[in-house]
Amino acid sequence: MIYFDQAASSFPKPTTVALAMTEAVNEYAANPGRSGHHLAQRANKVIEETRKKLQKMFRNESTNRIIFSLNATTALNQAIEGISWESGDHVIATSFEHNSVRRPLERLKLEKEIEVDYVRPGENESEWTSIISRKLTEKTKLVMVTHGSNVTGEIIPIDLIGKLLKKHKAMYCVDASQTAGVLPINMTEMNIDLLAFPGHKGLMGPQGVGVLLVKNHVTLRPISVGGTGSYSEDRKQPKVWPEGWESGTLNTPGIAGLLKGMEEVEKKGLSKIFEHEKMLAFRTINGLTKVEGVRIIGPKGEEDRLGVVAFFIEGIDGQEIAMILDQHYDIAVRAGLHCAPMTHDLYETTDKGVIRVSFGLYNTESEVDKFLVAINEIRDGLLE
Ligand code: ALA
Repeated sequence: MIYFDQAASSFPKPTTVALAMTEAVNEYAANPGRSGHHLAQRANKVIEETRKKLQKMFRNESTNRIIFSLNATTALNQAIEGISWESGDHVIATSFEHNSVRRPLERLKLEKEIEVDYVRPGENESEWTSIISRKLTEKTKLVMVTHGSNVTGEIIPIDLIGKLLKKHKAMYCVDASQTAGVLPINMTEMNIDLLAFPGHKGLMGPQGVGVLLVKNHVTLRPISVGGTGSYSEDRKQPKVWPEGWESGTLNTPGIAGLLKGMEEVEKKGLSKIFEHEKMLAFRTINGLTKVEGVRIIGPKGEEDRLGVVAFFIEGIDGQEIAMILDQHYDIAVRAGLHCAPMTHDLYETTDKGVIRVSFGLYNTESEVDKFLVAINEIRDGLLE
């Protein structure tokens, strides 16, 4: 089959991922950080190794402030809900935000009376900073930016925004769900306070692990409290990182798999992965622009972009195209709104949705060519 739904979850995984997970389940499935015996210590060692690798890749100040959770949504909820909000506080976010950011913000708007400005993209990179700078006020407590749109593949200049925010007290949180494992992210140089992403997309790990990296100066209230394996006599949640923010048993097999996924990403190198996925996106766009009735949404020029392309065909329902691709051509894509309705408002595609194809490090040019043949045949078959 041809799998072009990498923005939803990467597939296939490197073989080392499943091997490491099987090894964890079969050989050391004890509870990390709970008991002192050697099996629990072995589980703990893998988890700490993974934290170290994450710290090296994303340049957080301390491994202790790397929190494992279930997915990017729980990591983002911890970041957003963990801030001490007061009525009248202000947030700036982008119109590319996924529902995992939008919904927590909308709930805070209702429950805590905070104000949220969703800023729309400008014509070029530098416009992002002037747009955000115009919205910043004394009340701005959080600037929330998704690094790459999961619908259009557009990249937001998180480094320039970080530079701008050096002069402001607002916290800076980046959602790297589409870019961790594809683009370099340096929390220190980019002035990022909170960074969230899933393990199962660009980092090539399994589903079930999300990560939140938190700078040392940031105060966060844990969104869930409970067993931490330490200070058990205390009725209150211990303020010890990371366990105070990781109540409950961690997903050791998932984290062991993530470690191997990250090793594979390191071996290939981020710039090779990025260039490969971008090349597949350009090839797709070139082919699609030759198909009558196709409209591509988002960036179409030569600028850097992720390996994500969104389009629709005038007069044909996107879900129908996705179904035919799946059932007749064995090609997996995602149609609809992609949990990012504000992006669709921007491009006026909320009614019809779009078809999204997204690429990963194992996809090939010949797969793109087969997809383009399929799109041409589907279009001709349904419209002529
Ligand atoms: N957020 C994921 C996507 O874009 C699930 O498909």
